[in-house]
Amino acid sequence: MKLFDVYPLNDITIVKAAGSYVWDDKGNQYLDMYGGHAVISIGHTNQHWTTRIEEQLHKIAFYSNSIKIPIQQELANKLSSVCRKEDYQLFMVNSGAEANENALKLASFYNNRKKIVAFEKAFHGRTSLAVAVTDNPSIIAPVNNTENVVFLPFNDEPALEKYFLDHGDEISAVIIEGIQGVGGINCATLGFLQLIRTLCTRYNVVFIADEVQCGYGRSGKFFSTDHASINADIYSMAKGMGNGFPVGGILIAPHIHSKYFMLGTTFGGNQLACAASLAVLEIIEEENLIEQAAENGSFLLNELQKLDEIKNVRGKGLMIGFDVPESLKDLKKNLLYKQHIFTGESKPNTIRLLPALNITKKEIVQFLEALEKEIVFLTSKKISAINQ
Ligand SMILES: Cc1ncc(COP(=O)(O)O)c(C=O)c1O
Repeated sequence: MKLFDVYPLNDITIVKAAGSYVWDDKGNQYLDMYGGHAVISIGHTNQHWTTRIEEQLHKIAFYSNSIKIPIQQELANKLSSVCRKEDYQLFMVNSGAEANENALKLASFYNNRKKIVAFEKAFHGRTSLAVAVTDNPSIIAPVNNTENVVFLPFNDEPALEKYFLDHGDEISAVIIEGIQGVGGINCATLGFLQLIRTLCTRYNVVFIADEVQCGYGRSGKFFSTDHASINADIYSMAKGMGNGFPVGGILIAPHIHSKYFMLGTTFGGNQLACAASLAVLEIIEEENLIEQAAENGSFLLNELQKLDEIKNVRGKGLMIGFDVPESLKDLKKNLLYKQHIFTGESKPNTIRLLPALNITKKEIVQFLEALEKEIVFLTSKKISAINQ
């Protein structure tokens, strides 16, 4: 049987991982500045995380949500103390798309409305509603196409105010990434987030913060929207939540009430996923990883800003992007195949950095030195081509 061919693959097989490094089947070591797609929060194969999963595996991996699962409550308690949303409620799922799917559905149940405001360049996942609020027509199948979604320009306060003025009473939810990831590391301005909060409150619209990529400490605060000192009504989470164990969830404000069977899932909140998620939070808390992400992220951002050849360095914490001019178009490829460093990208020309929250300064310096080396190499190649 063939694999369904949807991923253009790098010709590399990773067989081992530890901290911020991974190794291929030939024994080559790579620095992971991509965090395996923004997923690795506490470092690959963290000892506490593997032990906690292993211990849970020997007790019970799964039993349905029809019984009491105390480890779910344990996770909810730990999460509320780490993210400081004590009065919120947790509903667990298995992925980011599923988290957004449930968030949007719950919003619609809550206010009995249909319209959703999303933003240009947004990415919220690939399931039906999640993809409908994603600004990429090439991944929206005809069956997912809906007139209920409007895309407004990102960070455009007058456009948002005008839309609310005209349609405020019809809007069910506004969904936004505090920092757009797939869209190219675009930070929502604090004023824009605060305006969303004000308008949502005024019109009884549900404010959904998609923190799947930018949350869980990545931005230097637990949620990226915390930088704006506001509370969303629903936070969606996944990626860093399990450090590679597939798990997602939504945090729901207390004014949104539950009803039996309004949401549900077979696998969401299983014992094993809860053990993995607890281990992540325990390490984040014990090792002050959010503060560390903020500090090491500013160091990385400042150092990148000193490099004239790369443009528009931006981001928060350890979610950083920069644009690569045409003359350096092989930079990402060379970093991977020559320097053995994984980075992320956003089309057309952005390199995205999403390393583990506990990446060390030494590893960051390793990245910066390799980056400069490749910039010099590609620039000198260009100069010698001009001189010939
Ligand atoms: C902001 C954001 N939301 C949702 C998703 C979807 O998550 P998943 O791939 O786990 O469904 C992603 C994935 O990249 C994302 O970056």
